[in-house]
Amino acid sequence: MSSRLPGFYNLSIESRWRALAEQGWLSPEDISELQRGLELSRADKMIENVIGVYGLPLGVATNFLVNGRDVLVPMVVEEPSVVAGASKAALAARECGGFTAEADESLMVGQVQLLDVPDLERAVQSALQHQAEILALANAQDPVLSGLGGGARSLRVRALTETPVGPMLVVELECDVRDAMGANAVNTMVEAIAPLLATVTGGRPNLRIITNLADRRLARARVRLRPEVLAVQGLDGQTVARRIVEAYALAVVDPYRAATHNKGIMNGVDAVVIATGNDWRAVEAGAHAYAARSGRYGPLAHWQLVDGELHGELEMPLAVGTVGGATRVHPVARLALGLMGASSARALAEVIAAVGLAQNLAALWALVTEGIQRGHMELHARQVAVAAGATGDEIEAVARAMVASREVRLDAAQRLLQQMRKRRQGDASDEA
Ligand code: MEV
Repeated sequence: MSSRLPGFYNLSIESRWRALAEQGWLSPEDISELQRGLELSRADKMIENVIGVYGLPLGVATNFLVNGRDVLVPMVVEEPSVVAGASKAALAARECGGFTAEADESLMVGQVQLLDVPDLERAVQSALQHQAEILALANAQDPVLSGLGGGARSLRVRALTETPVGPMLVVELECDVRDAMGANAVNTMVEAIAPLLATVTGGRPNLRIITNLADRRLARARVRLRPEVLAVQGLDGQTVARRIVEAYALAVVDPYRAATHNKGIMNGVDAVVIATGNDWRAVEAGAHAYAARSGRYGPLAHWQLVDGELHGELEMPLAVGTVGGATRVHPVARLALGLMGASSARALAEVIAAVGLAQNLAALWALVTEGIQRGHMELHARQVAVAAGATGDEIEAVARAMVASREVRLDAAQRLLQQMRKRRQGDASDEA
């Protein structure tokens, strides 16, 4: 199955389903599932006080080749240009062999905070001496995880002498969560071991919770681009590649730019994380904490020119699962996971890292050439037209008129729509 689907963008939704079914990406059951979406009764089991279901568009980014495998990438996002940008960058990458990506083992860490510890140094030693017993108690909470070869692996104990409330101890439990995101497994374990830690350290347990700075669960993606694939009308590829490195340089030295550079990466990352039913707040928290790990907030993706080629690399924590949470409860998330063919949490993280890097490339590429507004505005204009009340073919007509007059605003859309309807009424009465 190829993720290279020329002209996909121009098809109707039904024709897109047909094209994906013909290629073997979707089954007839998948298409029914996409039509049904998340039903109210299912939503009612997911969170509390449900009164409805909030829809967001699910698109697929085309052209992705990750570790030599064609991947069709499901993306849930409200922002225009994100899916188109990822697909465009993936096509350029594809022409140069695609992305390579790798992910660490699924190691997550849970923290137990202990206060009122009588002797911090002795407490550190005591906790470490009881490591085997503590790990056994943690693993007794999740025999399924242990059976799969995962489970609690080690303890780290840190004495924090200066905090706003005085000295404290933090005990960190490292756990291999296999194909889960891991919050449930880890939180259950740290809650279970807290009383034992109280006994062996003499302290009073307070917080017992996973850390979202999942820096033992990093994913990396790389791409090497021949400059000619970056050429645009009026600009050669070498100039574009150089400008991309110059744009990246600002993110290195300036957190104001780094935040936006990373926001572009997260446009892609979050869209796949949401599509697959994963916890995007956890991924966001981890990403930004990791970006600030040196003490200064910096870019998650890096670009350099090497022997005339543009090399890009992204590294970030990616705590995502293919089991547990909404990944299996939400029918469309389950379908999205199946579509990606990610056989494990690590394989999923690898593709997400590649999408993050592609999205960053797409943003920089647009920013250093024509800017992002033109492409953005064309799609945004459709949203504004809908907000102004346009329906059917009015949407396209109002959007096009706004882009042509460079007035993409609600008031302009309302005015154009009124004029259009008046004209149509006039034409209709002339004909009558
Ligand atoms: C917009 O959603 C994302 C960008 O601002 C990212 C960037 O500036 O790199 C275009």
